[in-house]
Amino acid sequence: MAKEGFNSKMGAIAAAAGSAVGLGNIWRFPYVLGQNGGAAFLLIYVLFMMLIAMPVLISEFAIGRKAGLPVLGAFKTLAPGKKWYLIGFSGVLCAFVISSFYNVVSGWTMYYTYLSATGQLASLSEGEVAATFQQTSSDPVLCVIWMLVMLGLTGFVVARGVEKGIEQYSKVLMPVLLLLIVVVCIRAVSLDGASEGVAFLLSPDFSKLSPKAIFEALGQSFFSLSIGMGTMTTYGSYISKKQNLSSSAVSVAMIDFFIAFLAGLMIFPCAFAFGINPGQGPGLVFVTLPNIFNQMPMGQLVSVAFFFLLVVAALTSSISLLEVVVTFVRAQYGIRRKTSTFIACSLVAVFGVACSLSSTIFNFFDNFSANVLLPGGALFIVLFVPLVLGKKQMRDELEAHGGGFRLFEAYYFLTKYVVPFAISLIFIVNILSWMDIKIFD
Ligand code: PHE
Repeated sequence: MAKEGFNSKMGAIAAAAGSAVGLGNIWRFPYVLGQNGGAAFLLIYVLFMMLIAMPVLISEFAIGRKAGLPVLGAFKTLAPGKKWYLIGFSGVLCAFVISSFYNVVSGWTMYYTYLSATGQLASLSEGEVAATFQQTSSDPVLCVIWMLVMLGLTGFVVARGVEKGIEQYSKVLMPVLLLLIVVVCIRAVSLDGASEGVAFLLSPDFSKLSPKAIFEALGQSFFSLSIGMGTMTTYGSYISKKQNLSSSAVSVAMIDFFIAFLAGLMIFPCAFAFGINPGQGPGLVFVTLPNIFNQMPMGQLVSVAFFFLLVVAALTSSISLLEVVVTFVRAQYGIRRKTSTFIACSLVAVFGVACSLSSTIFNFFDNFSANVLLPGGALFIVLFVPLVLGKKQMRDELEAHGGGFRLFEAYYFLTKYVVPFAISLIFIVNILSWMDIKIFD
């Protein structure tokens, strides 16, 4: 099997950013932030991105590139005869779980592209916009069909292979999405009553910060960066030795954060201006945005373009999820990419139908993957660094491109002490708070 790699520096970063930027930024980030009180959550989120998620991302890139193999093979080769490869199994499980609900939300997005293109979202009142989402999400046939369309599309791209499939789509379309988000943001902050929404996002009220909010901020930072399950380890194996891993990781994280932040700046002013509850959960994006498109010049065009590009953003992320499963099936059974893609898609479809039919399963998959599976996986990935690879090997890998990594000592300290301790502590505090054991008052 020929080794697949990205032929340009931009290709690898664009594909990793394509995995990171997706519904996590535009759909999930605003709804989780809205449920957890706003600005204080944002601050914690930024802190977690810098001190916890970044070291995990750098570690994943380095482990993948060092091994030159996708996640499962990477841990097997670097720690032969040990159980670390189980990280790969938990990653595959996680990819399944995320793919199942992710394709449902992507399906809604695709359906919204269709609704805007056919003019069915134009000139709806706020109440009608809310009712449209209610009908969409509670119609099982509709959810299943659009989920399957999205999954089929993902499978089609993955079956064609890394270079042809992923690289060419993500490089061109993501900048266009960014531009459009900026345009919608400008309209959103100039709405009457927008300032309350801006304040919600930017002036923190720490009394609203519960242990649950801290837990969810951590989970969201992992979900958004696609870390904790081996996706970025697999991508790391595609990155050339000439490339600087730490600066690639910083670029990916900055792009990812910036887009999530702008999504907040687009959604909350809009929510407050139209009297929409910011804490209402997974429907937030779908009940806010159509209202603002209706108040923009060329609103219908903007709406079609926006939902279409969101589909593309979702597609690049779901490609990276499916990729984890496909490489697993391929390596495990030694079968062709096309066949393993078909098998993986069929399995995901079964889970996807379950999520389409039951909001309880949907919410459970959503919360469990982001808040439990990803931080759990990340914990073992960072432990792998000091326990198996050690400082010298990590330094060599991170400096393989010939330049230095100025913050290496800080990175290593965070990875060895701060990240494992923080993740464990946040888990424990949360379990205690679930059990209703108060430790702070
Ligand atoms: N990071 C993606 C998003 O923000 C979701 C994702 C998570 C993709 C984990 C791959 C792995 O939409």
